[in-house]
Amino acid sequence: MDRLDKTLTSLGYGSRKEVQHLIKNGQVAVCGVVSKDAKQKVNHADVTVDGEPLDPKTLILVLYKPMNYVCSHNDAGRLIYSLLPSRWQKRNPKISTIGRLDGDTTGVILLTDDGVLNHALTSPKKHVAKLYEVTLASPVRGDEADIFSSGTLMLHGDDKPCMSAKLTIIDSHNVTVELTEGRYHQVKRMFAAVGNKVVKLHRKQFATIEIGDLQEGQYKIICKEDILF
Ligand code: URA
Repeated sequence: MDRLDKTLTSLGYGSRKEVQHLIKNGQVAVCGVVSKDAKQKVNHADVTVDGEPLDPKTLILVLYKPMNYVCSHNDAGRLIYSLLPSRWQKRNPKISTIGRLDGDTTGVILLTDDGVLNHALTSPKKHVAKLYEVTLASPVRGDEADIFSSGTLMLHGDDKPCMSAKLTIIDSHNVTVELTEGRYHQVKRMFAAVGNKVVKLHRKQFATIEIGDLQEGQYKIICKEDILF
């Protein structure tokens, strides 16, 4: 159980002052009874604001990342977080992306305010699979699948070779790549290492999560059990 005011501020319902105002104003109820006691200890499930149940205690989201949005919290560009409801952007702990995609990469990105889950899904030890659709500037040579799967490909500046990755050729300029690690600009650097250049990159799947029927910029709430890895 947490204090009523803390429950509301941590879910982004406002600053401490704003939340105290909501409470004083009679907009907050506990078990259906208006509470004007900001210090009252409450269960999240018992609280309503303006008659509506509270936002979920923890959030796990899948979002279809559009082009030119960045995964950073503090960048001058368009932040991926701006696609979320403003109340969610004020939660504490913050909602953060699970790993990152480059600004010019589109597709599946997961977000959560569950730090333990975030860590589990980004830990290099967990080998969570990520599937990318890649469009290349030059035609594939034919030896890339063997090189990527060999577990010996060294990327410039790294001290360990890439883990084995699965490349499937669609046509001369289009392939899919499945990685089980997530190094900085990894797909782009892997193709640079075999003399090619990525011109379009789309993440189709992260663990078991796909875009489904989401449109670019849309998100939906998922649960932990949906993410098998
Ligand atoms: N690899 C990249 O190069 N960029 C991404 O955004 C993701 C994987």
